[in-house]
Amino acid sequence: MKKVLVIYYSQTGQLKSVVESFISQLPDDKIQVDIREIQGVEQYPYPWGFYQFADEFVEAALVEGAPVNPIQDIEDDYDLIILGYTIWFLSPSSPIVGFLKSEQAKKIFKNKPVITLIACRDMWVMAQEKMKDLLNNLNAILIDNVALTDQGKGVYSLITTPKWLMSGKKDAFWFFPPAGILQSDIDAASRFGERLNTQLKLDKEKELKPLLSNLGAVNIDGKLIGLEIIATRSSKIWAKFVKLFGKKKSLGRKIGMSFYIGFLVLLVFTIMPINLIVRKIINKFRKNKLRDLERKYERPSGR
Ligand SMILES: Cc1cc2nc3c(=O)[nH]c(=O)nc-3n(C[C@H](O)[C@H](O)[C@H](O)COP(=O)(O)O)c2cc1C
Repeated sequence: MKKVLVIYYSQTGQLKSVVESFISQLPDDKIQVDIREIQGVEQYPYPWGFYQFADEFVEAALVEGAPVNPIQDIEDDYDLIILGYTIWFLSPSSPIVGFLKSEQAKKIFKNKPVITLIACRDMWVMAQEKMKDLLNNLNAILIDNVALTDQGKGVYSLITTPKWLMSGKKDAFWFFPPAGILQSDIDAASRFGERLNTQLKLDKEKELKPLLSNLGAVNIDGKLIGLEIIATRSSKIWAKFVKLFGKKKSLGRKIGMSFYIGFLVLLVFTIMPINLIVRKIINKFRKNKLRDLERKYERPSGR
């Protein structure tokens, strides 16, 4: 009997649906699947208030993690772990980081093959680099990564995702598509569990190599990687600055965040349009470099 552990943290339930679809073809009389949801000590609101949402920025950008309750009824002899996580401010969400930094995670993850499963807006590449560090610290072995992203790509989801999270409504409006991941993409995630079912029966997880290749596990746009690298660096500097103003939920933090929000608004209306045009021109001359970057960050599973 093979034992698979599935751990995830989902706030609105979107990632939960992705996880359920992903594993729908996995369990049978030879494969046991234990699903455990991480519970944060703090209950996050849904829909979010604007400043409640912004208040998560510092701890998320600095990968500090939030306190979580220990998971009950869990063993430490799994053959494979599937870790479902979402992205908060270009980092793995704070409850997931909190769990991965816990003593419990050290016991469960040690020397285990891990598949990460991301469901987010559109920007997960740098968060996955941080995830690799967290898993390395636990001596876990990342063998696959699957990422599903929202249907309104790029600039559209920059509007539709925050609107959804702060209003609780996903509907399309004006020329914007609905928020969140396409239901057909969620349903199609069952192909990964189906593949795992056959691979586990062949003991393939013991080889510590990707099991989910050639299934369209990830789809990276090389043109966005540079932007994500710059945004991650800048958010780290800003997070340290905003932290100086005070603790989470304090007036000082609100003031500090207002500076950052002002900076972002300025960025969106000035530097970003110029940057987009310049990059469009430069990218024409560096197609090979962008493809190399895509290949690098598409690993381990690839397209
Ligand atoms: C505080 C916060 C920050 C977020 N930042 C990002 C981000 O930087 N990149 C991204 O692709 N998605 C981001 N998202 C969207 C989430 O990754 C995810 O798609 C959404 O919260 C729904 O996930 P759920 O399954 O937990 O409900 C953010 C969400 C929240 C709540």
